[in-house]
Amino acid sequence: MMIDGILREYKLKIDSRLDIIFPITGQPYDTVSEASRYSLLEGGKRIRPILLLEFYKLCGGNDDCAYNFACALEMIHTYSLIHDDLPCMDNDDMRRGKPSCHIAYGESMALLAGDNLLTEAFKICAKTQSIPAERVNKAIAYLASAAGTTGMIGGQVIDTSVKIDNEQLLFTMYSLKTCALIRAAAVCGVILAGGDDKKISLAESYAENLGIAFQIIDDLLDSEGEASIIGKPTGSDSKNDKVTSVTLLGRERALSMASDMTNGAIEILDQFGGDVEVLKELTKLLLKRDR
Ligand code: IPE
Ligand code: IPE
Ligand code: MG
Ligand code: MG
Ligand code: MG
Repeated sequence: MMIDGILREYKLKIDSRLDIIFPITGQPYDTVSEASRYSLLEGGKRIRPILLLEFYKLCGGNDDCAYNFACALEMIHTYSLIHDDLPCMDNDDMRRGKPSCHIAYGESMALLAGDNLLTEAFKICAKTQSIPAERVNKAIAYLASAAGTTGMIGGQVIDTSVKIDNEQLLFTMYSLKTCALIRAAAVCGVILAGGDDKKISLAESYAENLGIAFQIIDDLLDSEGEASIIGKPTGSDSKNDKVTSVTLLGRERALSMASDMTNGAIEILDQFGGDVEVLKELTKLLLKRDR
């Protein structure tokens, strides 16, 4: 099957599982489930869950057992986007092709929807069955570190509060705010399948390369993409006076770095010694993406 079909199939399976996580039950607190569903269910590329499922398969996992973790990653990622768009953060009105959560539901509900997605994500991880508990525990701990101070949150802290005046600091920030959840996707896939430390470390290096390329392309799309295609506003970074790979390195160097990082990621995949064709195609596709 061609890569587009494979990704579409993954997306359908992931979306059907996400769809049952926040049922509307006639309770007075339904609004938070509605706001969570609103941001979670449409428009995302589902890169992180797909990576998790592919790494799980690559390391010998039976594909259906890891869906709780795949969904959890998408939920944590979605929470990070809801909070990232808030007026106190990037103050962006559009996300995934529609009004941001706080525009549709108000700031309090957007804050709570983010909290809700984060909290329920760890609940469904803990409820994973058919995978040995010690692997589940190890993956939960890895995911928490990748989402917290030493990961995505740490990166968002630097993004919003530290003056970025050199490349090393910029890429440290990217490694935390963007690579960390991508790394968690790849590594949790390996851990859940029982992969060894060598494979964990290969997955980490792969994701680090991919994540940097991914954030550089995100920066480029912010500066020269088409809002109706990317589904979020362009010019957000300049509006917020952000230092990005495009402003610090210049467009050409940023682009060539994204290309080098993509090639680096692909070379690392070859060291796994399994069927990495889908991962390779996906990695290449993400460099050329327009959304
Ligand atoms: C956007 O992530 C935020 C970044 C880390 C650059 P995605 O580009 O994966 O967003 P969705 O999930 O497809 O909406
Ligand atoms: C945010 O980076 C990454 C997150 C941890 C949410 P950006 O602020 O560049 O992400 P977008 O462009 O709004 O998706
Ligand atoms: Mg941001
Ligand atoms: Mg943003
Ligand atoms: Mg951006």
